[in-house]
This record gives sequence, C-alpha cells and structure tokens, in this order.
Amino acid sequence: MLALVGVAAYLLGSVPFGIVIARLFGLGDLRKIGSGNIGATNVLRTGNKLAAFLTLVLDAGKGGIAVLVARAFFGSEDAAQLAGLAAFLGHLFPVYLGFKGGKGVATFLGTVLALAWPVGLAACATWLCVAVAFRYSSVAALAAVASLPVWAMNLGHGKMLILSIVLMLLVYVRHWENIQRLKRGEETKIGGSK
Ligand code: G3P
Repeated sequence: MLALVGVAAYLLGSVPFGIVIARLFGLGDLRKIGSGNIGATNVLRTGNKLAAFLTLVLDAGKGGIAVLVARAFFGSEDAAQLAGLAAFLGHLFPVYLGFKGGKGVATFLGTVLALAWPVGLAACATWLCVAVAFRYSSVAALAAVASLPVWAMNLGHGKMLILSIVLMLLVYVRHWENIQRLKRGEETKIGGSK
C-alpha cells in the first residue's frame, strides 16, 4: 500500500505545471524559453507574473498535497516523508516528459511546508532574504535548500534530517548549470528575460 502511495505521489509530482500553465496562457513551450527550465522562475521570464505565480503555487502544492494525503491516510510521518520525496522526484524526473524535469525548488518548499511548517517557513524566508539581497533565483534556492538541515535540527524536526540532506543534494545537482553560469557571471537575475 505504501508503494502505491509512492507511485501516486510520483505521478502527481510529474505533472509539469509550468509547461501546462505556459501553454494555457499562450506563452509557448517553456522548454524553448529562457533557461529552458519548467519552473516558475522561467515562466516569469515571459513577463507573465500571474502565470509564474500559478506555476509556483501548483508546483509547491503538488509536494504539499502528497505529504498531507499520505499523512491523513497512514497517520505516519515516514509515509508523509516518502510521499513528499516521491512527488519531488516526480518533478525532477517526470514520466510525462521522458524523465527530463525541473529543479524542484517550489516542490521542495511545498513538501517541507507540509511536513513541518516552521522549517518550511524558515526555508521560504531564507529564499526570500537571499533573493532580495542578490536578485538571483538560483542563489536563493541554493541557500534555502542548504539551510534546510540546519533549520530542521534547530526547530525540533531532526527526523527530517536525512530527507533534508537528500533534497539539498538533488537540488544542487540540478543547479549545476546555474552554478556554472554564476561562476561565469552569466546567470540571469530575477525578472531578467534571457
Ligand atoms: O527555481 C529554479 C531556479 O532556482 C533556477 O531557475 O530558470 O533560472 O534555471 P532557472
């Protein structure tokens, strides 16, 4: 039964809301725009703030819903964590897009908010502070996810430590190109069009 929840969460996480929203708003194929990523940051590069906001909420929501449903169904934090991880992996490796997905930032934030809202809020606040200070979405994401194990340990959610580290490593791997662009000084700032 637990495996079934994992598969259902993965399939939910696989839904590429950025691509769906971009199509619905007539913005074209998101994979051919800007960084080519399927997330809210890249939708924002089209200039459509509503579409970017909806992508952010839906991508975060699929992680959050997976956690809440698994918790309600099994009454177990382990099941909730498994469902959150499965939804996150769905976003990164979506079956509907030949396993070529996104970077997982919104989905990890939604997952963590549902698992332990104080830790999620702290990660969101970290993202926001770094984004305001540096204006790079990728830097904000890397800082937020790196802060996750620290917040989990200090806010009494040590049971999330292993999951936090797994999420952090995967987000870093997915941001490899962003890290290279940052090193070359070629990363686009938030709201930039490239
Ligand atoms: O949330 C994704 C962000 O960290 C990077 O997106 O489109 O700039 O590669 P992008």
